[in-house]
Amino acid sequence: MNENTETPVTVIGLGLMGRALAGAFLKAGHPTTVWNRTPAKADQLVAEGARLAPTVGDALAAGALTIVCVTDYRAMYELLGASDVDLDGTQLINLTSGDSAQAREAARWAEQRGARYLDGAIMAIPPAIGTAEAVILHSGPQPDFEALEPALGALGTVTYLGADHGLASLYDVAGLAMMWSVLNAWLQGTALLRTAGVDAATYAPFARQIAAGVAEWLPGYAEQIDSGSFPAEVSALETDARAMAHLIEESEAVGVNAELPKLIKAMADRSIAAGHGGEQYPVLIEEFGKPRD
Ligand SMILES: NC(=O)c1ccc[n+]([C@@H]2O[C@H](COP(=O)([O-])OP(=O)(O)OC[C@H]3O[C@@H](n4cnc5c(N)ncnc54)[C@H](OP(=O)(O)O)[C@@H]3O)[C@@H](O)[C@H]2O)c1
Repeated sequence: MNENTETPVTVIGLGLMGRALAGAFLKAGHPTTVWNRTPAKADQLVAEGARLAPTVGDALAAGALTIVCVTDYRAMYELLGASDVDLDGTQLINLTSGDSAQAREAARWAEQRGARYLDGAIMAIPPAIGTAEAVILHSGPQPDFEALEPALGALGTVTYLGADHGLASLYDVAGLAMMWSVLNAWLQGTALLRTAGVDAATYAPFARQIAAGVAEWLPGYAEQIDSGSFPAEVSALETDARAMAHLIEESEAVGVNAELPKLIKAMADRSIAAGHGGEQYPVLIEEFGKPRD
């Protein structure tokens, strides 16, 4: 008998990401049931061996785990909160993007209805799903994650962050902050250099080296933040603030946007005014860690 012993899985939501998730499960040999509001989006997956469930309830009953990947949490509630849907005894993994409060609320909501709930965040684009490059973060009850980890491995590099359901979303937005900050810093430098005829491709390798070098500082700076002590081992914040002034002056002189460096300098100036000028750069965590007065 040629019986498939892989975990049966369900994917609800077959947009660009949901189709990639279901496709990766199929490729790994999992019996895969799918459901989508617009059923035609399942055609290719069905041709590849997926089963299209007629209803959300049927889809939930088919899998040992159900991945939900729709536009937003509102869509998830619309789908799973319908009167004919019974969540009791189901194992949900919500990979829909949202914030940490939404994740914690959804966990309470699902658990009240008898479901087990993990929240997740996908740090990848659809073509990467099914490869080690696709990092997928999970938070919620650890035993549930560990039981599902072998099946989830079909999707990429799956990581467990902790019992707090909000953690996956928090890491997700923290990663976005990192990504945009690196890109924005590069764009600022590129705009400056273009005024002297240096094209973006010429600056990119140089910028990459700087970004990689700065990334090396993170573990040591993290120790300063965690210990709450910021001795100026390589440079004091007031020295950095003077360099920020040069960046602003240079930008203005050559007609480049100076909003971003001005914003960061204003934060550094507040920190210096609060008496931290002689400390090292990560002391700015105190400015980042509170709302603007
Ligand atoms: N694409 C990416 O690169 C990427 C990366 C990381 C995370 N994500 C996250 O993954 C989630 C899905 O993204 P996507 O790229 O797959 O988006 P998408 O292509 O726009 O697909 C959206 C999906 O949500 C469904 N949907 C929306 N509102 C619904 C409702 N009220 N009831 C039922 N179904 C509803 C759509 O159904 P219909 O087909 O019927 O419209 C479709 O299946 C989002 O939260 C996104 O932030 C995406």
